[in-house]
Amino acid sequence: MAPAPAPAPAPTPPLRGPKRRHAISKRMVILFSASVSCVVVLLLSSLFIFHSPKPPISVSPLFHGTPKIAFLFLVRRNLPLDFLWDAFFQNVDVSRFSIYVHSSPGIVLDESTTRSYFFYGRQITNSIQVLWGESSMIQAERLLLAAALEDPANQRFVLLSDSCVPLYNFSYVYNYVMVSPRSFVDSFLDAKEGRYNPKMSPKIPREKWRKGSQWIMVVRKHAEVIVDDDVIFSVFKKYCKRRPPIDTSKGKLNLKLQKQHNCIPDEHYVQTLLAMHDLEGELERRTLTYTLWNQSATKMENKGWHPMTFSYSTAGPQRIKEIKGINHVYYETEYRTEWCLTNSTSVPCFLFARKFSKGAAMRLLSQEVVNDFDVSALLATPP
Ligand SMILES: *[C@@H]1O[C@H](CO)[C@@H](O)[C@H](O)[C@H]1NC(C)=O
Ligand SMILES: *[C@@H]1O[C@H](CO)[C@@H](O)[C@H](O)[C@H]1NC(C)=O
Ligand SMILES: *[C@@H]1O[C@H](CO)[C@@H](O)[C@H](O)[C@H]1NC(C)=O
Repeated sequence: MAPAPAPAPAPTPPLRGPKRRHAISKRMVILFSASVSCVVVLLLSSLFIFHSPKPPISVSPLFHGTPKIAFLFLVRRNLPLDFLWDAFFQNVDVSRFSIYVHSSPGIVLDESTTRSYFFYGRQITNSIQVLWGESSMIQAERLLLAAALEDPANQRFVLLSDSCVPLYNFSYVYNYVMVSPRSFVDSFLDAKEGRYNPKMSPKIPREKWRKGSQWIMVVRKHAEVIVDDDVIFSVFKKYCKRRPPIDTSKGKLNLKLQKQHNCIPDEHYVQTLLAMHDLEGELERRTLTYTLWNQSATKMENKGWHPMTFSYSTAGPQRIKEIKGINHVYYETEYRTEWCLTNSTSVPCFLFARKFSKGAAMRLLSQEVVNDFDVSALLATPP
């Protein structure tokens, strides 16, 4: 049942988030100013720590029956890539998956809003208005998880955006996540970042503050922890807020507003919550969703890095092959190399990727990445 191990790929540049690169120059200075023996000890200890196998964890009470993956789509309005997901779910036994969509309140998924019947009626009815970068985003994630927890067959929960695509067929994805008793949650320490607000202490001590990708895959036990949490969520709601843009009409008040911590809740909440519950030992500390960061964004623009959007021309077979060949991720702020594993077997790191335009998704479909699919049928009836 285990997915085929990854072929040994050529060394690939590590996935890098904004703060991961920035940390390196200072680290290098520290390294060089340390004595050689310290460096050797450091390297040896990091080898020892990061290459030793993870201790086994207890598996949550067995569910009798066919376990499902719950695909949780967090979307702005509709599902622009529904045609690709449609191909992905074609011919899959419906007892192996379920779909939940959090969209704007009032959006109903039916033949007038989606081309794929898999999504009909799959919107959750208690959805809220989401402001990107606000705590409403994590509330929406919690609503999705809560809806999916109502079905006891849902044993794995994967969060996806409206621009996410699968990189493999369903059976590969299913086996990959089902053999793992661990959640896949990108989570790391970043001592240099200024998003932690000391006012969160003591409810969230600084040493439990984590950062990582919003795009998670969790086991049922961890989904329950997220849905049951009131304490950490309310601290986030109060203190983890996005810095408002400068508003000239507010004059001097801007100075005060700009001094606030710029905090993106969805890049910290699940990671920090699981750390608070001492559950990090039950994680693969990486994301299953590939993001390509635009490294050309300059500091002058003061926007940090941005995810690049794949277009038809940049989603060619070679590029997709490279992404699928990545077998480790390097976390610069922790000197941690995460060799990608599921149930102790070496596997490619990424099952999904973002952000894909319709054209890019169309190209993926034509490459038969997700399924044997006759793309000409789709081209004959353009959306
Ligand atoms: C699914 O993908 C895997 C790996 O890419 C492949 O080995 C397998 O044959 C595919 N299965 C189907 C049903 O297409
Ligand atoms: C995980 O791997 C172990 C050792 O190879 C194997 O015995 C076990 O069945 C695997 N677990 C699942 C859920 O496939
Ligand atoms: C990358 O960022 C640069 C600078 O902000 C921008 O000009 C360029 O269009 C971006 N590229 C992509 C593919 O998003």
